[in-house]
Amino acid sequence: MRNNMFRRLPVEQATGQLYGGRHRLRVAYRTRDLIVLGLGVMIGSGIFKIAGVQAATTAGPAVIVSFVIAGVVCLLAALFYAELASVVPVAGSAYSYSYVAFGELWAWVVGWALLLELLLAASVVARAWSVFAAQALGDFAVPVPSWLADLVGQPKGFDVFALGILLLLVAVLATGSRLGLRTLWFMVLAKVAVIGLVIGVGLTFFDPGNLSPFVPTARPAADGSGQTVLDAVLGAATGSTPRVFGIWGVLAAAPAIAFAYIGFDLIATAAEETRDAPRSIPRGIIVSLVTAVVLYLGVAVAMVGMVSYDRLDPSGPVLATAFDAAGAGAMGKVIDVGAVLGLTTVILVVLIALTRVVFSMSRDGLLPRGLAETRRYGVPFRAAWVSGAAAIVMSQTIDVLTLEQLVVIGTLFAFLFVPAGVLALRRDRPDLHRPFRVPLAPLTATLAIGAVGWLMLNLKVQTWAYFLVWMAVGVLIYLVYGRRKSQLRRLLTEKANRRTAAAAAGRPSAGGPGARAGGLPPGVAPYPADRVAPGRSQTGVHPRPPDTAPRPTVPYSAPPPPQNPYLSQPYGPRTPDTGPQQQPPADPYAPRTSPHQTGGYPRPEPGGSRGRHRRDDETQQPPYPDEHDPW
Ligand code: ALA
Repeated sequence: MRNNMFRRLPVEQATGQLYGGRHRLRVAYRTRDLIVLGLGVMIGSGIFKIAGVQAATTAGPAVIVSFVIAGVVCLLAALFYAELASVVPVAGSAYSYSYVAFGELWAWVVGWALLLELLLAASVVARAWSVFAAQALGDFAVPVPSWLADLVGQPKGFDVFALGILLLLVAVLATGSRLGLRTLWFMVLAKVAVIGLVIGVGLTFFDPGNLSPFVPTARPAADGSGQTVLDAVLGAATGSTPRVFGIWGVLAAAPAIAFAYIGFDLIATAAEETRDAPRSIPRGIIVSLVTAVVLYLGVAVAMVGMVSYDRLDPSGPVLATAFDAAGAGAMGKVIDVGAVLGLTTVILVVLIALTRVVFSMSRDGLLPRGLAETRRYGVPFRAAWVSGAAAIVMSQTIDVLTLEQLVVIGTLFAFLFVPAGVLALRRDRPDLHRPFRVPLAPLTATLAIGAVGWLMLNLKVQTWAYFLVWMAVGVLIYLVYGRRKSQLRRLLTEKANRRTAAAAAGRPSAGGPGARAGGLPPGVAPYPADRVAPGRSQTGVHPRPPDTAPRPTVPYSAPPPPQNPYLSQPYGPRTPDTGPQQQPPADPYAPRTSPHQTGGYPRPEPGGSRGRHRRDDETQQPPYPDEHDPW
């Protein structure tokens, strides 16, 4: 099992209560903060351009239907995120869900896809931010020195604005700045107000004639627009050529629109920092996604109702030019300012999520463990700097604005694993308490996987090629690094060593009668004693006392908690954290005394806090001066 790349992380291990020392995040968010986070990241560059671009190039006025289709697919996926977030509320999101449901290699693959999504999203949106910021300066006649003019608002190459905004936001995250949540609230509310204005003013110019024909006749796609995988397959099978508009166009626009909704999944990465996460995360995900779908639909209706789709110019600031064409040119300034505010929050939340995924993967040892260290305010500062630096390099060296579809494919790839993970966990761990359950799961999961797969097939062949290269590099890194450094591997090895030592000393190990098979949770098979590497536990960075020392025999029903490598860090506990953190951790491998005690979270206490789930580590939070300021 130690070398098994499909070793699965026990849910109890994943839920974070066993990760002590400086590897723990502090609780900061309430449900309403999560909704703000969700809107902060979902309402971004997509709202200012996707409806116009897709209406002009692929779907016509029926882009409204494409928004509904993409919204329904994302809502389906969101339901599964909500269930898993309620069972495994940890920072790694789909990465951690795959770890508990499918094992380490799949977890790594999903985590690696998330890194692509998030790194690229931060870079793409930073470039878009720069373009809008330069436009906003122009709108208000703010002079830009001539030496700077060619270094700002550039779609590719070195760009001072893109660099500056990324640096600023990474610094805010990494230093635990107190600007944090309130600023985010302010910016998101301002952005929503701008979107409200765009919809309100846009609808005053609504002309039903612009919606005709609602589904324009299909026609051949322009050369160079890029073949999708589906086009390629159909072309090979039937000899057909790529087409746009018509019913196919309506369907083909949906994956590009999925970019607009990207972000609801990132709420799940805030789970370890959320009060009552098993309930708050599902609510945050669903409420923010539904709100975003409504806002996006409002903008799409306003856009195609204002100007005929064939008069929209997809190559420029399409929303502003639509208002211009309708006779409301002043709205261009409002849009530019709204975009600067809006895109700032997108980058901020994407960077938060990126940091949390890197934090989770390094906490599990699949990335260097040092990246999981947190400071006094529970900020994974190293993960923030390293991932921020990677986003900066990407944004400055690659023509990222042409790679938007790679963000989508990384996201959709992770979406595939989440419904499948729900089914796998329901099968393997029916005992876990599920504060949120997806109705008709087998049916809805199949629908979700099919719909997400369909969207993926509608992405370009070139996007798939880049994605496969990225994933191949990822698998190579796992084989060379993560597989050997995995904390789960260490944990299993140490457990196997203990069992070997116990057998040699003629005393029972924790795997006796009364325990689950071998004392291990499902998916973690006992490691054959004859294959345990001698002295393996002494080779790690966390030396353990020799297991051969005599110890009292204990009854099978109450094995002593094994030393947890996550708690025996050289860092030691954080200074302000005393009391409960010093308690020995629950043993994830211990036999269950109640079917619900070993779940990710226990059932709520009857009558206590209106059934609210208290996180084990919530009571350990130090009395920070401003509890709601996570950075
Ligand atoms: N949904 C985000 C945006 O539209 C990524 O910018």
